[in-house]
Amino acid sequence: GGRTRVLSDGNRIPVLGLGVWQVPNGPDCVNAVRWALEVGYRHIDTAQAYGNEESVGQALRESEVPRDEVFLTTKFHPRGDDPVEQARRSLRRLGVDQVDLYVIHWPAGGPTWAWSGMERTRELGLARSIGVSNFSAAEVDSVVAASTVPPALNQVMFNPWHRRTRLVEACDRHGVAVEAYSPLGTGRYLDDPTVAEIAQRIARTPAQVLLRWAAQHGLVVIPKSTHRDRIAQNAQIFDFVLSAADMGVLDGLDQTSGTDQAQEHKWW
Ligand code: A2P
Repeated sequence: GGRTRVLSDGNRIPVLGLGVWQVPNGPDCVNAVRWALEVGYRHIDTAQAYGNEESVGQALRESEVPRDEVFLTTKFHPRGDDPVEQARRSLRRLGVDQVDLYVIHWPAGGPTWAWSGMERTRELGLARSIGVSNFSAAEVDSVVAASTVPPALNQVMFNPWHRRTRLVEACDRHGVAVEAYSPLGTGRYLDDPTVAEIAQRIARTPAQVLLRWAAQHGLVVIPKSTHRDRIAQNAQIFDFVLSAADMGVLDGLDQTSGTDQAQEHKWW
């Protein structure tokens, strides 16, 4: 349970964060992050590839929430450049001295080539924790084997339809925390009748049911919304518990149970 998880390097990560994928740099992003911080989020997830780090940084400053109370993640866009140099650029755009988590956005060029640069980023104090995203079980194995400091976390698509039990088990074996992106299926699972039935019966919303399900499986979740009421609603997942029966029903929606992949298709 609780609202934070301890990573293998000893740092704590809040279980709930705001994701800002596909939110353009500008007022929509500034508002979403500011509203999230106002309603109690203490974890924001951005990426170099999203192009909105400036807005995230602006909202963080305008919120006046102390920097050390917010867990800030950005992701290295793997294009052959040095992770350290790209981290420095991210820090300038974000207007902070350090991020809490810096992850390789996807395993372009193979799972290990950027890892020593990620470790260097951590040694230099530019990132407190380092991790990966969209890595399969085999790719996690490779990077762990090649590492001095192993990845603290793997961020992957995870929701009842994409449960990836073998990938999650592999991460567990290595002490790699798993973080769920698209926990609402980018919105498309909110009308699902199975989810709706549970939500109605326990007087919660479909989004809350899906987020609670992931958190109750021990994952970190980063739902995206740019609407104030939804951002607030998505944070109310720590005041109820899904029954074992309802967890089982949601588990049964899985279409990826046997897979160790982070994605159905590699789009990079
Ligand atoms: P919007 O940003 O317009 O609020 P995911 O986190 O799985 O990627 O899902 C994000 C999508 O789900 C976005 O399209 C977002 O729309 C929508 N969404 C997020 N939270 C809610 C909610 N509580 N109710 C309805 N739709 C939501």
